[in-house]
Amino acid sequence: MSISKTAPSIVSGLPGYSGPFECAVAKTQRNLPALAQNPASWAYHRNGNYSDLNEGFFDIGNWTTSFFTGMAVIATLHTGDPRFGKALQPLDPWYQKKIGTHAADTMHDLGFLYSLYAVALYKVTQDPHHRQTALRAADQLAARFIAGGNYIRAWGRMDESGTDYDGVAIIDSLMNLPLLYWASAETGNPHYRDIAVKHADTTLELFLRPDGSVFHAYRFDPQSNNPVGGENYCGRSIDSHWARGTAWAIYGFSLSHRHTGDSRYLEASLKLADHFVARLDDEVVPVWDFSLAPGEPPLRDSSAAAIAACGIQELALQGEAPPSLCSAKDAMLAKLCSPDYFDPSPEVAGLIRNGQVGDGIGRAQSVYTSWGDYFFMEALAREIGIEITWW
Ligand code: GLY
Repeated sequence: MSISKTAPSIVSGLPGYSGPFECAVAKTQRNLPALAQNPASWAYHRNGNYSDLNEGFFDIGNWTTSFFTGMAVIATLHTGDPRFGKALQPLDPWYQKKIGTHAADTMHDLGFLYSLYAVALYKVTQDPHHRQTALRAADQLAARFIAGGNYIRAWGRMDESGTDYDGVAIIDSLMNLPLLYWASAETGNPHYRDIAVKHADTTLELFLRPDGSVFHAYRFDPQSNNPVGGENYCGRSIDSHWARGTAWAIYGFSLSHRHTGDSRYLEASLKLADHFVARLDDEVVPVWDFSLAPGEPPLRDSSAAAIAACGIQELALQGEAPPSLCSAKDAMLAKLCSPDYFDPSPEVAGLIRNGQVGDGIGRAQSVYTSWGDYFFMEALAREIGIEITWW
């Protein structure tokens, strides 16, 4: 793949980031051949050996394969080494089939999957094939929009009704909107962007709570499309303060602000970030849910720290992050680079430990997560001057 490297735009100058970043590049190089040989979701794993998870690439729940392709694109931008691009090539027929013969079995995370694959590859190669792929994914994501309720349905096949997932939107979906903003910017067709804005507005109206926390999910009546109330599938409980959900919202709203200029999104991102940072303790990496009761194990979520750091970087790039947020971001990244979190071992596929996956009943498991690895690498990339252009 031929690349166009853009000028650096955020460089912290803090020492200690290049070692972990080079390690992320090396792990990406080691992981790609195995992933390409047997594409799967590789979402998370207790010992960091992601390929043991065995969730299929075409499974409707797969939202994670592209964290590895995104890492490969970052590695290419850094090294200029064409081997990363070559290692991705066997994956292309799989990505085509996912939005082709398997299109009915996809969900809203087409945004994560195709921003970090097709949009990222298009941005760095200008190959129209990737543009075409990303636009097809954007069409399918747009087709999940429920016009009567102004939200993008998160889960389940669109031809499936009467399930628990019918009528549900989730906070994480803010990170899927950049695919739609990109599609409108690329084609001149406002359709995609209109959907993104309506979904972001609905999220702003229904998900945010006065204490700076967010609902993980929100249910609508599938018949009337009227809002019903908050739901939870990932945090400790419906009214709890799930750290990663807040991190998705910090980053997601900052991106919607970049794409629209709407100051309400900026205010939301800043408010959520302030509350998030205010709840950090001396460990700096957040507990997985800020509403844990006394005596509950204070398990950390390294992925929430990495995502929040990226969100604060995005605010900083827009000239909107106050020094207090930037300091918190630096502290989180420095902690993630420490031996408690960062795992340099070449034999382990995973990069950072102590990520959390909610089990749906208010507990969490300490694992390496592919999304934590990706956002850690993205944050480090930005700190050393690599521009991330695909969100
Ligand atoms: N997007 C799913 C999660 O954050 O667990």
